[in-house]
Amino acid sequence: MRLITTIADMQAFRRDVRARGKSVALVPTMGALHEGHLSLIRQAKRQCDVVIVSIFINPTQFDSAEDLARYPRNLDKDLELLSPFTIEATFSPDAKELYPDGFSTLVETGEIAAPLEGVQRPGHFRGVATVVTKLFNIIKPDVAYFGQKDFQQTQVIRRLVDDLNLEVRLSILPTLRETDGLAISSRNAYLNDEDRQAARILHHSLRLAEGLAHAGEADTQKVLEQMYKLFASEPRVHLEYAAIVDPIQLKPVRRLSAGCVALVAARVGPARLIDNLIFGPPDASQEILLQLALTARPIVDTQTLIPGFETEAVRLRIASCRNCAAISAIHLPPREFLTSYVRTTYADLGAPRAAVIGRDSPMNPDMYLYRSPRKSNRFSTNLFELLGVRDFEDFKARFVLTDAIRCHTTSPHVPQNALAFCAKHLGAELKLFPNLETFVVLGDDSYMQFQQYLLERNPEQIKPYEGLMKLEGWAREDARVPVLGERLLHIFYCYHPTRGYKRSPSIAQWLG
Ligand code: PAJ
Repeated sequence: MRLITTIADMQAFRRDVRARGKSVALVPTMGALHEGHLSLIRQAKRQCDVVIVSIFINPTQFDSAEDLARYPRNLDKDLELLSPFTIEATFSPDAKELYPDGFSTLVETGEIAAPLEGVQRPGHFRGVATVVTKLFNIIKPDVAYFGQKDFQQTQVIRRLVDDLNLEVRLSILPTLRETDGLAISSRNAYLNDEDRQAARILHHSLRLAEGLAHAGEADTQKVLEQMYKLFASEPRVHLEYAAIVDPIQLKPVRRLSAGCVALVAARVGPARLIDNLIFGPPDASQEILLQLALTARPIVDTQTLIPGFETEAVRLRIASCRNCAAISAIHLPPREFLTSYVRTTYADLGAPRAAVIGRDSPMNPDMYLYRSPRKSNRFSTNLFELLGVRDFEDFKARFVLTDAIRCHTTSPHVPQNALAFCAKHLGAELKLFPNLETFVVLGDDSYMQFQQYLLERNPEQIKPYEGLMKLEGWAREDARVPVLGERLLHIFYCYHPTRGYKRSPSIAQWLG
């Protein structure tokens, strides 16, 4: 690992990486590294060729000189922690390097930075936005990694990236916690034993709110009252705010719905701690909850529930997906997904006769069918039942599975050209299998995208999914897939296997 301390060296390093055609991840930190930071680094390692960690205690984001002066710093220890990761470079400039004499341009943050932390720490987000912009400009990462722990920060940075047209993708990862629930933070080091015990109340208050929500309480005021009451019972903790907001604008909501976020900030002894929780279905994983919040529509203060939420994925090499443009928050499954899995899984690319277009659960790469063919999950069990196959061996004798068409979120803000771009790659990959005769298209999103981008149908001509499916729970047509030439292919539309409330019966007998 190289320790780089000057902007010029960093830029030279970046130029060299670019010349080698590698994708670059940036994990910006202020040092005092802990498991939370390391979780971002691990994900970056999985997804990009070259990982750069920045360690810079940014003076412009501290609202008090005292807080800045005592912020924990120990570069040697940080470098030691990083050493097992084989990180390519750590960028750790001193303050004068990033803010030389005469420095006078700051990035002003808007409305999203005003409430919550903005009230408690005036100017904080201006400092964050300024340094993050500088780091992005110097390092030019393809993907930058941030933690949900600082939820408002992630949303400020999303806005920054969108508003200033910065060419970087953001990946936001769930909060890592101590075993008792306390969010891991560099500032936990300030806590003595009693404070450390008392600090658990931040997480407890959030779990209390979640419990109330799951029990059916939708009135945020009532939930907040319970939270206040809990905080009042712990004299060592001084609550600064507890709020329940919509995830996009961070404005208070009256009624709880999936994707809303509860945030708390409190002083515990000498430390100022923050934490947050995203509301969602009781069995949702942290990744799903995050995705729920990050892809929510701007107005969520309604009584409607967000139905059957599914996570989304990009599986192409990051470099080749740059044209996807303007997708402000995404999660990336292992980038080696289809192309390399296919090449190692299928000795004979002529074998698969059917392509299944749908999605596995790439948020947890270890459960991915191709990576762990012997581990069953709800998706694989139901898929095998639908297709009438015994196990993965049986599956791969005839089928190939791809989620390429939905290479990222289908939420309303994803531009059409991004979907088209990914569909183009799907087309190219499908051509790897010369003997495809059949498609099995899983779920409504895949249906729409398959119709639009692979069958090249005009959105107005596409039949509504529910009408199409309503009789037998599946539908069939024979059609040409232009990218695969003139031959007629059999296409089966089925419900997605993880949609518990609507399942298609087995179509095995029709698959031949
Ligand atoms: P810092 O507090 O060092 O955090 C660096 C990154 O680690 C942030 O994206 C933060 O959200 C993430 N992080 C912190 N604790 C975490 C946890 N318990 N689980 C998961 N992720 C966690 O945030 C900053 O630095 C600065 O503001 C920075 C973005 C570097 C700009 O100066």
